[in-house]
Amino acid sequence: MEILIPTANVKNIAVRCGLTTCLNDVTFNIYPGEFCALIGPSGSGKSVLFEALLGFHHISAGTLSKPTKAIGLVPQKDELHENISPKEALKINASLRGITQEKEKLVQSVLQQVDLLDHQHKPIRKLSGGQKKRVSIALEFLSSSQLLLLDEPCASLDPQLELQQMQLFRELASQGRSILISTHKTHNLHFCHCLLVIYSGTGIFYGTPEQAINHFHVTQVSEIYGQLKKRSVRDWLSSYQAFERSHRFLSRSPYPSQHQPPSSTEKVAPPTQQKKPTKAEDILKRIENANT
Ligand SMILES: Nc1ncnc2c1ncn2[C@@H]1O[C@H](COP(=O)(O)OP(=O)(O)OP(=O)(O)O)[C@@H](O)[C@H]1O
Ligand SMILES: [Mg+2]
Repeated sequence: MEILIPTANVKNIAVRCGLTTCLNDVTFNIYPGEFCALIGPSGSGKSVLFEALLGFHHISAGTLSKPTKAIGLVPQKDELHENISPKEALKINASLRGITQEKEKLVQSVLQQVDLLDHQHKPIRKLSGGQKKRVSIALEFLSSSQLLLLDEPCASLDPQLELQQMQLFRELASQGRSILISTHKTHNLHFCHCLLVIYSGTGIFYGTPEQAINHFHVTQVSEIYGQLKKRSVRDWLSSYQAFERSHRFLSRSPYPSQHQPPSSTEKVAPPTQQKKPTKAEDILKRIENANT
């Protein structure tokens, strides 16, 4: 039987930021091909967890194993050179990553993927918040990192773009990368294979969106936020431990194709047709070719 190694394996980690404990008892793992989301109230520790995965924080307890290849990050706050255009930014970034073959074609495909073709020549400073975010995402699409972290990538997107973005993340993950986003936008989380819920720095749930809905006794993921204050962090943690013992989610079959599909009452991610290569497949193939 083939054993698939998780891209990142996080076990009961704690992180201190100065004198305060920012994260305590966070456990999850993410496998190749999975698209997972990190949710939790503002200040609960989502960005700190990303920083910990990137190695910016000392792990004071627990264990964390992560990819040997680079981890890509799209930060919460865009860090872009505002006087150049999206196209120029992508071309420079591609050159810095050593991509030489078919650079122009690759840049055009990525621009198309994030719906920026019409804005590719404008200085980035003239773009809207959502358009800037898509430039940041496009820059990370050029990387061949195994684990892609996106901190609130949908924050300033309109509902249609948010939907497209979530579909795209799912599609990109299906090509073999692991994609972890943090988000407060809960409408499209049915595209995710798994959800990690953080409350006051503690990982109080990790499972599929459907399992989360059952566990928190809600009808949709957005209602989980309202449930949190009803119990203490310690209570949530012990209830999760009971869930974990009975579901053994963390030792689940890691193959995303074997995850249960969302129930019929939930919005379901449209099945991906395998007739011809998708845009994401096409881009990944080009990046792969360019990097070899
Ligand atoms: N470098 C730091 N030093 C001290 N405290 C920090 C540091 N970075 C973050 N914190 C604290 O850690 C906690 C978690 O912050 P974090 O930015 O991870 O929250 P978040 O869940 O990402 O919130 P949001 O949804 O608003 O982005 C907050 O209380 C924050 O003040
Ligand atoms: Mg944050």
